[in-house]
Amino acid sequence: MNGDLHSGGAVDHAAVANAHSEHADAPEFAREMWKTRLGFVLAAVGSAVGLGNMWRFPYITAEYGGAAFVVLYIIMTLAVGIPVMLAEFTIGRGTRKSSISALRLAGGKGWVPLGFLFVLTGFLILSYYSVIAGWVTRYALAGIFGGFPEDTGAYFGLIASGVPAMGFHLFVMAVTIAIVMGGVEKGIERASVIMIPALFLIVLGLAIWASTLSGSGAGYAFYLTPKFSELLSGETLAAAASQAFFSLSLGMGAMLTFSSYLSREESLPREAGVIAFSDFSVAFLAGLVVFPVIFALGLQGAVGESTLGALFIAIPGAFNEMGGIGRVVGTFFFIALFIGAITSAISLLEVVVSAMIDEWNMPRKKAAVIAGSLIALLGLWPASNLNALGALDAVTNYIFLPVGGLAMAILVGWLYKNPLEEVSRSVSERFQPLLKGWLWTLRVVVPILLVVVLYSALGEAVDAVKALFGG
Ligand code: PFF
Repeated sequence: MNGDLHSGGAVDHAAVANAHSEHADAPEFAREMWKTRLGFVLAAVGSAVGLGNMWRFPYITAEYGGAAFVVLYIIMTLAVGIPVMLAEFTIGRGTRKSSISALRLAGGKGWVPLGFLFVLTGFLILSYYSVIAGWVTRYALAGIFGGFPEDTGAYFGLIASGVPAMGFHLFVMAVTIAIVMGGVEKGIERASVIMIPALFLIVLGLAIWASTLSGSGAGYAFYLTPKFSELLSGETLAAAASQAFFSLSLGMGAMLTFSSYLSREESLPREAGVIAFSDFSVAFLAGLVVFPVIFALGLQGAVGESTLGALFIAIPGAFNEMGGIGRVVGTFFFIALFIGAITSAISLLEVVVSAMIDEWNMPRKKAAVIAGSLIALLGLWPASNLNALGALDAVTNYIFLPVGGLAMAILVGWLYKNPLEEVSRSVSERFQPLLKGWLWTLRVVVPILLVVVLYSALGEAVDAVKALFGG
């Protein structure tokens, strides 16, 4: 296992020697690996594509001025998202360890707390993410078995919080634990290879169907006509950057962990590009579904009013009004959302589980059950209190993820020995100069943008915590 580290010349050799002595008496077991390159890509796309694409992206886009925001989002994906993803890959594949151990190897003991922050973030995000995934499950089942309710506002009020929400949250956690217990190849990879192509097909089909609706023109106009006046604020910038971070699963070691199971043959920049493009495609397509549906039924007032309104009230309401076809299409919509949520939940749990395996030599199944159960327990809180859900979401997204991304940029940009060696593997001569650009983006552009994000987002996080305590 450690032999692989030597072949990865990008790694600091003193640190590697150190790791040798630290783990000298640890039992050697072969590190799990992805079976195929496609398996890795689909698992990483599975992590990226989720509620962030099909739920958050459309309503945030609506809130911040439509197409102009989409443009800004693309810029942020290129300027911050892909560079930080590559930084995570550099450390993950360079050390072949999960977050805590990888950061110790890459940066020394002083970086271990960042590894713990990553694990904590995975823990907190999954605790509420699975509550929302539970609502999604509930709607998917409603579509399959009885049709969507007439008064979706009242229905959502009933299921969003309390015992029903807890039950569905526990169900989602059980499915997530079961898949992670299966391991990298037989659990995560297999699930992703089956589910992610299905998700793409469903979303594509839904977008084509939505184009036939009578309101589609107004929906597209709203979505795709830029209002550039709304772009020039720190708040919009922060919203775009933090959405890109959340959507690409960055700033908490998920991509780091997944890349630690990847073969050295693959080109990291190519993988980052494919993953980011796929993630954006699903988000963009989701907008092409959501806005025509909402405008076809004149429900635009519900969009952008609240974080939940667009998806959990307006959309099922619209499907209900469309009758039989609405029920079929709506069911597919929620099934796609369910797939996205489960494949993301898997990666959140894997961050915690892989750290327990690497740090404490714990068997995978045991780690998955222990970590998953604790997260399930914590999730009972956001499942019974929507303000807790909002506070967990705000603190992790507005503070923990940007802090994690900033730290990764500094580590890989300024401190890690020769990151270009790991990143330039299997990259053709022609593209090598671009990699220097990447390093300087990581050194300068990413830190500046993330500091702006943190500065503008702090207020939102504080507001959410105040709301929790009734302030
Ligand atoms: N990227 C996921 C989404 O857009 O829904 C959420 C997520 C998954 C964030 C995994 C962070 C993570 F590590």
